[in-house]
Amino acid sequence: MTTKLGRNDPCWCGSGAKYKKCHLAADRAAGRAPAAPEAPRSPTLDAEWRSAARGIRRRTRRIRLKSEAEIDGIRRACQLTRDILDRLGDVVREGVATGAVDRWIHETMREHGATPATLGYRGYPASSCISINEVVCHGIPGERELVSGDIVNVDVTSILDGYYGDASRMYLVEEVSEEARRLVEVTLECLDLGVAAVAPGQTLGDIGHAIQRHAEAHGFSVVRQMVGHGVGVEFHEPPEVPHFGEPGEGPALVPGMTFTIEPMINAGGWELEILKDGWTAVTSDGSLSAQWEHTVLVTPDGVDVLTA
Ligand code: MF3
Ligand code: CO
Ligand code: CO
Repeated sequence: MTTKLGRNDPCWCGSGAKYKKCHLAADRAAGRAPAAPEAPRSPTLDAEWRSAARGIRRRTRRIRLKSEAEIDGIRRACQLTRDILDRLGDVVREGVATGAVDRWIHETMREHGATPATLGYRGYPASSCISINEVVCHGIPGERELVSGDIVNVDVTSILDGYYGDASRMYLVEEVSEEARRLVEVTLECLDLGVAAVAPGQTLGDIGHAIQRHAEAHGFSVVRQMVGHGVGVEFHEPPEVPHFGEPGEGPALVPGMTFTIEPMINAGGWELEILKDGWTAVTSDGSLSAQWEHTVLVTPDGVDVLTA
């Protein structure tokens, strides 16, 4: 016979203790209870990280924990992405076409032995995403020249030695309206609050909640259809990382997880539409949208922002 008792039910022996603390192990040994599920793990994670992960692997089974070697590689890809975003401060200027910015990104990545993850990804035609004003994300670089007042997100993902580093920032072109500046600032604060919510035993819901609360307190809205994602060994891995949510909900964070936090915050409503090119996402009401993105690593004592 196989018992159907839950791990937290009172043990069948009448001791009053929870089943998992009492006869579960003995029943398993005797074949009366199903074997313990195999916990997925990274065999090369060191003991300290494994012990920090123990007990908080709730709803996390599809999420890949990275080995130390993988983390080193992801960190290098993230640092290249960070360096490119730093240097873009001088490239993203009034009068420059977004296509020229994209070519600069492509060449700079190649010079460093990396390739742009977006190029050819599900048919995407460019080496970056450049999203201006009411464009929420996935803007395709092209002829459009930057003009004073534009708020511009440039999203860069490098693949270096097979590892992915994904980040984006906002760039302000010359004189920007007070509302636009405020939106960009609050969105950066949302990212920082999301990052600050990362620690082992916290959940994805804690991250989303911190972001949503701050955005909505300022009268802005959080985009729902686009979310952050696991990243590192592939471009988009489990889990999805919503930028809204309830504290304590969703998968728990475990040391060795790497994922992005990339809130898209709109000055108006959260709804968006995809243009006929199949990529460009714009706010349905034409309001401004801003986004900042980091790739982060969950560590035994908190978070390491790999693209910082
Ligand atoms: N870098 C984007 C992200 O943050 C993904 C762009 S996918 C593309 O996830 F195909 F649109 F480039
Ligand atoms: Co991303
Ligand atoms: Co990105």
